[in-house]
Formats: sequence, C-alpha cells, structure tokens
Amino acid sequence: MKDYTIDITLSEARKEKPVAEQLQFGKTFTDHMFIMDYTEGKGWHDPRIVPYQPLILDPAAMVFHYGQSVFEGLKAYLTKDEAILLFRPDKNMERLNRSNDRLCIPRIDEEFAIEALKQLISVDRDWIPTAEGTSLYIRPFVISTEPFLGVAPSSRYQFIIILSPVGSYYKEGIHPVKIAVESEFVRAVLGGTGTAKTGGNYAASLKAQQVSNLKGYSQVLWLDGVERKYIEEVGSMNIFFKINGEVITPSLNGSILEGVTRNSIISLLKHWDIPIVERRISIDEVYEAYKEGVLEEAFGTGTAAVISPIGELFMKEEKLIINNSQTGELSKKLYDTLTGIQTGKDIDSFGWVVKV
Ligand code: COI
Repeated sequence: MKDYTIDITLSEARKEKPVAEQLQFGKTFTDHMFIMDYTEGKGWHDPRIVPYQPLILDPAAMVFHYGQSVFEGLKAYLTKDEAILLFRPDKNMERLNRSNDRLCIPRIDEEFAIEALKQLISVDRDWIPTAEGTSLYIRPFVISTEPFLGVAPSSRYQFIIILSPVGSYYKEGIHPVKIAVESEFVRAVLGGTGTAKTGGNYAASLKAQQVSNLKGYSQVLWLDGVERKYIEEVGSMNIFFKINGEVITPSLNGSILEGVTRNSIISLLKHWDIPIVERRISIDEVYEAYKEGVLEEAFGTGTAAVISPIGELFMKEEKLIINNSQTGELSKKLYDTLTGIQTGKDIDSFGWVVKV
C-alpha cells in the first residue's frame, strides 16, 4: 500500500439524522466525504476527509461531456456489539480498477482505497442505521475533471467516496417484482462497456426502464445485443433461474457486470451442494421451462437489493407467473444467509466480512 496520510477536516455543522424507519435508498448523505486528486505526472495525491459539500468543477470538465466516470457500491453494517462490518470490499476495489482500465482512468491503490473508506466510515460511524433492512451504503466513484472538449482521456481526476444511510432498495423489502423482457433496447454488447461499472451503462438503460414502468413493470430483462436471444441481466442486477432443481446464471461473457453478490451466491450454492451452472441461457429455454412447469424461481442479485425475486415475467404477450408470485424458498434462504453474514448475525465461514 502507498504511504499516504489522510488529512481530516471535521464538519462544524452536523446534519440531522433521518428516522431509520423512513429511510429510502440513496436520498440522504452523511456529514463527511473522502476526496483525492489525480494529476498527470504527479499521480494520485492529497487524500482528505472533508465536510460533505458540493463539488466545484469547470463546466468544461470532461466528465460532463464524454462520461469518463466509474463507480462502486457496497454496504457497512453496525453489529450489536458496535463493530462495523464491510462485505468483501476488496472485490469492489478490484472491480473499480477493472472499470478504470476500461475507461482509461488511472488505477487506484486498492488497499489504500479500503483504508480511506474505513477512515471515512469511522468519522461518520454515528450515521450507520441499525433497524432491520437498513445499512450505510458506500459510493466510491471517479470522475474526469480536466477542462477540455477534445475526445481523449482526461489528465485530471477526482476519486470521491460518499456515504448514504439506506433502507431497502425496494420500498417493499424482499418482495417479488414484475419484469418485462426487453425486445427493443439493449444494455451492452460484447466489446462495449457492459462489464464496467460506468455511468453511461445506467444512462443507456433508463429508456427501457421508463417504458416498462409505464406498462406496470419495475424493470426489464436484458437480452444480448446481437442475437437478442440470450439472457444477460435484470434491471441493474445479475440474474439467476432455478429450473428443475438446478440453478443457472448467465456466464460472464464480456458484456455482463461481475457482481459481488452474484459471486457470493455461486459460492453459497456450491457450499450447500445445490447444482449451480454458469452458462448461456436463452429466453426460449426459460419460456419452455415455464411451459413444462419446471421454472421454479427467478431472482436478481445486487448489492443494493441483495436478492430481488421475480414474480412475473412478461414476454411474447404472455405473463409468466413464477412461484405464484411469491418469494421462493431458495431466494429467501439466500437473502437470509447473505444478510445474516453481512450484518454479523451469522457466522461468516467464507472470510468475506472485514471489520472497520
Ligand atoms: C446494485 O444492485 O447494487 C446496483 O448496482 C444498483 C445501483 C446502481 C443502485
């Protein structure tokens, strides 16, 4: 790890904390933020924790024009005995650097980035909510800041971490959602940026989400961008199907995001000796399985929602009702086990949890 010292300026005006029961996802932010600059020739420098505040950026800053930015998302939990737990932060920082590589952003020292977020969380530890289903969501991100309108990698960046006390991603908590199979728009293509966590992927997904919302669906199921046949993701999450006792998730084909929750679920299923395969799966195969009565469960996985069961899949002008629109047994078990480990209520036999 590089030998940086983080300069800390504490806020003099502390904000009022939200009522835990009314917490939504990503609407409230804590008293402090971490920030660090990059300048070509100098590298990453001046790490500091400062009062949470607006950024001052030149209107020509490249992030506004060509979207050279990446982000991560992870959560911190406070245990009964006041320990702060992070879930696999190394995986997030590894992925941040993979996203950086794809977007021509200079790499960040991963160990130092974890140290920075630990120090920031320690400063704002009073903000970690403890009610059921709540956590402190951590959003590290990098933006390009050079004022320049030429299309090229920026020569200046900022690495920032902000914290947000959150409730469940969906108001209803773990609750089956209605999903429409997307036949017009695509999220990503092979060779594109689908494996990177970059804002542009999310901007490009909004139209399909908006159209599906108007039809009464929460999110869309994304198919591959070439054949429009193979399943990729659901909304902003990875997807799993349980068909005839076997769990299937699309293999990481170069356009799917490598989810930390996805990876953890595969490990849990293997640990439980539940058959799990990573392979290409077509929408026709899911449809056939439904018709044969062997489509037992389907669920999305991500840091924000953890597990999001799919109760209805709309495709071919037909509504496929999965597991009577109820949360499936496996979805529930995975949700309980993963959140049990993350919150420190259950034993972490995988060594995933890291104390701040
Ligand atoms: C997640 O599932 O954690 C996501 O990546 C969604 C996030 C963009 C809110």
